[in-house]
Amino acid sequence: MTPLDNAALQEQDKHQLHPLQHPKTHADPLVIERGEGVYLITADGRKILDGMAGLWNVNVGYGREELAQAAYDQMKRLAFTSNFAGMTNIPATELANKLSGYAYPDLKTTFFTSGGSESNDSAFKIARYYWKRMGKPEKFKIIARKLAYHGITMASTFATGIERYHKMFGPAVPGFVHVPPPYPYRFEGEIKEGETVGTAAARLIEEAILREGAETVAAVIAEPVQGVGGVIVPPDDYFPRVREICDRYGVLLIADEVITGFGRTGAMFGLTRYGVQPDILSFAKAITSGYQPLGGNQISDAIYDTIQTAPDTDSWMHGYTYSGHATACAVALRNLELIESEKLVERAQTMGARLYAGLQSLKEFPFVGEVRGIGLINGVELVSDRDTRAADPVLAAKVMKMCQDRGLRTRNVASTLAFAPPLTITEEEVDEIVRILGSVFDSVS
Ligand SMILES: Cc1ncc(COP(=O)(O)O)c(C=O)c1O
Repeated sequence: MTPLDNAALQEQDKHQLHPLQHPKTHADPLVIERGEGVYLITADGRKILDGMAGLWNVNVGYGREELAQAAYDQMKRLAFTSNFAGMTNIPATELANKLSGYAYPDLKTTFFTSGGSESNDSAFKIARYYWKRMGKPEKFKIIARKLAYHGITMASTFATGIERYHKMFGPAVPGFVHVPPPYPYRFEGEIKEGETVGTAAARLIEEAILREGAETVAAVIAEPVQGVGGVIVPPDDYFPRVREICDRYGVLLIADEVITGFGRTGAMFGLTRYGVQPDILSFAKAITSGYQPLGGNQISDAIYDTIQTAPDTDSWMHGYTYSGHATACAVALRNLELIESEKLVERAQTMGARLYAGLQSLKEFPFVGEVRGIGLINGVELVSDRDTRAADPVLAAKVMKMCQDRGLRTRNVASTLAFAPPLTITEEEVDEIVRILGSVFDSVS
């Protein structure tokens, strides 16, 4: 193959405005040419182990012929058709049928979007409409957690609990209230006698509901594991208590499983391990392992009934051009077959345990504050001082860059290096992650 002209590619890239990047510092982007398994190959011929599975989504790994074939077959037959107002297509019907009760037994109906932000926006609209139909139109507020990431549409931006995403785009969309997350390493709240971090963090949700007035609160939204906020894994007693609180005050629970859905945590869906069912689920990312943009919501029967039995004048006035996109749905169906037949959920457990143990072995470095994770979503939080736990964003950025130069891609999320590789990763590749990170830690020590 003729070598690619990396410099020319970088030059033409100047016509792109990139997400999460200052244009001025976009001088020499890493140009990715292709992917194979867990590896990315750059235009200048370097091989990088993708410790982030793209953006936490390429669960079946890169270069899967099966998914290319599924897209090819569907595109030849019917790439796209409207899913609006009396029409549907075959892959969308098959996928909706497959997903019925797939994540949680009580969630049987799916609304399709093209990604996670759209799914969360849709979740808020579903919650609002539900309460209107229940005769409580004043219930519109959403309680979210600090350090939550829910996306970048207007509503999901302000559901997000990370200031940097708000600063450029205010005034804030009203109705979003944030409470501290269940973050044992940095819990902000008071832990009262008899409480754990999990139950204290859940109490903060209860207090927020009471402060705002339960009659004004539509839903609580939560990621089972907070990814972008720093790979925050909640204590086991948190979500069961949150569910109880939501039930007590008549508040819906929205699970944002955009990262945790489809195997990432070593369970097919993140809340199943706590025996908790949400009322609304948001999914995206790994439904297609990133081979096509697709997302959606699943809703409980109670919610679906309110939409189904709406007055004849109330058609469901919400939908995207690409809701139920035929090619995306065909790819999703094949992707789910791969996740199931290759037992990737179980693999996330075994490889996750190996990765976690390997990362734990790096705790000897004084700047490692905490190593945490579940399944194949892990984080190594860097601090400048272990006693004060002061975060070290500068070191985290430096380590991330050095890892990349040595052939490992990680992401610095809130001074935590995130590791969420494809679920197809082998033992040797897990060990390679730990070895490269360890060598970088040695160099910066
Ligand atoms: C938990 C969570 N929710 C929502 C989103 C937004 O998804 P998208 O970027 O597909 O709009 C993300 C993206 O990373 C996410 O991590």
